[in-house]
Amino acid sequence: MTGSVRHFLDLDQLDGATLRLILDRGLAMKRSREAAGKPLAGRTLALIFEKPSTRTRVSFEVGMRQLGGDVVVLESQGSQLGRGETVADTARVLSRYVDAIMIRTDSVSKLTELAEHGSVPVINGLTDRSHPCQVMADVMTFEEHRGPIKGRVVAWSGDGNNVANSWIHAAARFGFTLRLACPEALKPPQALLDWANASGGAVSFADSPQAAVAGADCVVTDTWVSMNHLDRSERINLLTPYRVDERLMAGARPDAVFMHCLPAHRGEEVTDAVIDGARSVVWDEAENRLHIQKAILTWCLID
Ligand code: CP
Repeated sequence: MTGSVRHFLDLDQLDGATLRLILDRGLAMKRSREAAGKPLAGRTLALIFEKPSTRTRVSFEVGMRQLGGDVVVLESQGSQLGRGETVADTARVLSRYVDAIMIRTDSVSKLTELAEHGSVPVINGLTDRSHPCQVMADVMTFEEHRGPIKGRVVAWSGDGNNVANSWIHAAARFGFTLRLACPEALKPPQALLDWANASGGAVSFADSPQAAVAGADCVVTDTWVSMNHLDRSERINLLTPYRVDERLMAGARPDAVFMHCLPAHRGEEVTDAVIDGARSVVWDEAENRLHIQKAILTWCLID
């Protein structure tokens, strides 16, 4: 059941004004935890995990509690979802108990089925297609350190994965330039770039990581081998030229920030010197998951 229910499914499904409102609220909530009060007292969020998580689980749990609400966590192997109960039936049942549902799953169709068959807001906590909560936290982190992202240049070097897809959505919604350097076999779909460029973004493939980062305000990468990748050695061979090291960072602006959504595989997609260096803002990114998700929860549940 979608209708007037406020889902947070993907950045391309919300307009720029709504995303700006959520982002500014996240910044305000970070500045003053007390000012937010307990607007979600009496509300419960279900967290469904079909894949492992540290940041998403802890930040949603802590954020919901800071806002006065409660959580219930379902791991797929410990629930009937893992034994074949349909997503549609799960959505109908959970909607009778809880006020919102967050799901982390491989399958984008499970996310959309939850939204279609439930009657409460559904939040995307990562699918194989996207990671919108993460990239909202990333944009918030950029703006904390470097001011408005509109008109700035972000470079992605590495796997054109679900996080890269959400960066492409964000480029369109927040109006910045995004240059992606990815191996041919691991590029995001051209159709996604075409959508972004027709929707206010400036997104392109660069010929090399060096070309992507030249003069960039922000350099981003992500792990090369995610939770469901079996072809580890093949991926490492393909992605080694895209590693973010000090030499690559030297091509970006002197005040460029380095971002990684974590978990990092140090020595693979990023060197210790970069992730632990002065330009790295990865710990702020991780913290900002908490603040931006509190803003998302209040937008879904009480606006
Ligand atoms: N970045 C992120 O989503 O981290 P977790 O996998 O730990 O939730």
